[in-house]
Amino acid sequence: MGKVIVLDHPLIKHKLTFVRDKNTGPKEFRELVKEISTLMAYEVTRDLPLEEVEIETPLAKTKSQVISGKKLGLVPILRAGLGMVEGMLDLLPAAKVGHIGLYRDPQTLKPVEYYCKLPEDVGERELIVLDPMLATGGSADAAINFLKKKGAHSIKLACLLAAPRGLELIQSNHPDVDVYLAAIDEGLNDHAYIVPGIGDAGDRLFGTK
Ligand code: PRP
Ligand code: URA
Repeated sequence: MGKVIVLDHPLIKHKLTFVRDKNTGPKEFRELVKEISTLMAYEVTRDLPLEEVEIETPLAKTKSQVISGKKLGLVPILRAGLGMVEGMLDLLPAAKVGHIGLYRDPQTLKPVEYYCKLPEDVGERELIVLDPMLATGGSADAAINFLKKKGAHSIKLACLLAAPRGLELIQSNHPDVDVYLAAIDEGLNDHAYIVPGIGDAGDRLFGTK
């Protein structure tokens, strides 16, 4: 079973409160999602392998550690996943970014794919799928299945919020995928929106409602 890591940090909790607040406008909403994503990058990369190198400080030769050339890939699920990219890139500037376009059909709630562009060497990269919302889990499940079909071996999923239903789906379909979250919410409403949630993440990021 994949690990579920809820980032229990006062900075994340504080920022998430204002992300949830319906009176927060798109500019501040985007900034907060970006900042939370940067904080999440710190934890998502905690197990990156290190190697020892020899360097010289102004005083002496010494051995010190650097990340051992592990290639990273960020894969935002369009649109709302885009809100998490810049914040992650602030800490992981060498990561390549692939995009998977999915939207959730409001009637069937099933994900519909409309775009995909991934780095060629997706199978050699440690991938971090980004989407603020894990609701029914259908979109993240489809994105992960797609990446696996393209040869991905190492996938993590980073979301701001999850509902228990979406989390269970990912854990049962993808026991190899660890999930990183800012919070787990109570559940879903009749339209499969996360409650209490943050509303429609894409619309709030891009001001489309
Ligand atoms: C939202 C969200 C996830 C999906 C979550 O995207 O960003 O991708 O819904 O729901 P699920 O877990 O039930 O699949 P949406 O379909 O609203 O598209 P958008 O990002 O383009 O607004
Ligand atoms: N998509 C969103 O943007 N918000 C939700 O709460 C669920 C799906």
